[in-house]
Amino acid sequence: MTDTPLFKVSGFSKFYGNRIGCKDVSFELWPGEVLAIVGESGSGKTTLLNCLSTRLMPTAGSVEYRMRDGQFRDLYHMSEAERRFLMRTDWGFVHQNPADGLRMTVSAGANVGERLMAIGDRHYGKIRETATDWLTRVEISTDRIDDQPRSFSGGMRQRLQIARNLVTGPRLVFMDEPTGGLDVSVQARLLDLLRGLVNDLGLAAIVVTHDLAVARLLSHRMMVMKDGYVIEHGLTDRVLDDPREPYTQLLVSSILQV
Ligand SMILES: Nc1ncnc2c1ncn2[C@@H]1O[C@H](COP(=O)(O)OP(=O)(O)O)[C@@H](O)[C@H]1O
Ligand SMILES: [Mg+2]
Repeated sequence: MTDTPLFKVSGFSKFYGNRIGCKDVSFELWPGEVLAIVGESGSGKTTLLNCLSTRLMPTAGSVEYRMRDGQFRDLYHMSEAERRFLMRTDWGFVHQNPADGLRMTVSAGANVGERLMAIGDRHYGKIRETATDWLTRVEISTDRIDDQPRSFSGGMRQRLQIARNLVTGPRLVFMDEPTGGLDVSVQARLLDLLRGLVNDLGLAAIVVTHDLAVARLLSHRMMVMKDGYVIEHGLTDRVLDDPREPYTQLLVSSILQV
């Protein structure tokens, strides 16, 4: 089935009153493919991501998702319960601010284990074992399993949020500026870790970032947004090495100057 897209977006728009959030976006995402959405602040990246992941209602357009049974379903013609089930099982959502994606006052182990319980795991010993394994995979010392993320550094919190999202074996993960709030030194390690996990698990991902270095490291393809429109779309190396649109050329050159 890998010759079939996982996600098909067509004529997608979101308006806030008269203001454009995003307009006329169409693309397909393939299994195991990482798509970066880049653009400056206010270009519509978060709006698009939130609409695609059904956290916001679009004004127009459709998104079809290929379910595990191979059938395409329109996300906006599903019941709320079906959408929530998808969110809990097949999808992950990594927020820029880990506090938005974690429960800060329950233990690290419970943050990971909770997602397993939500899909029906009941065996305490097994849940704890899987949680321990995932803490190791995201490089959190297992002696922190009973600590609350409140006591963790920003980087540890973000790694815990990633473990919480990946533990259920999702097929698609949405990420909004996953390294955005972190120190530069911490960002590099987290990116490495993310790249390894995404490769190992064969995950498809849609990653919003204003940082072209993140797009370069993580993504196969990228879309450049400006004022709500996708103005350039192509393989990441092609777009970054040979940008066609003057606006993309500006974006790329401004990063080369730093
Ligand atoms: N809740 C909202 N109400 C009204 N306008 C919004 C809202 N959220 C975003 N916008 C507007 O939509 C446009 C895109 O914003 P956003 O998706 O947050 O961009 P980005 O994530 O690229 O910074 C901007 O003009 C922004 O001001
Ligand atoms: Mg944003």
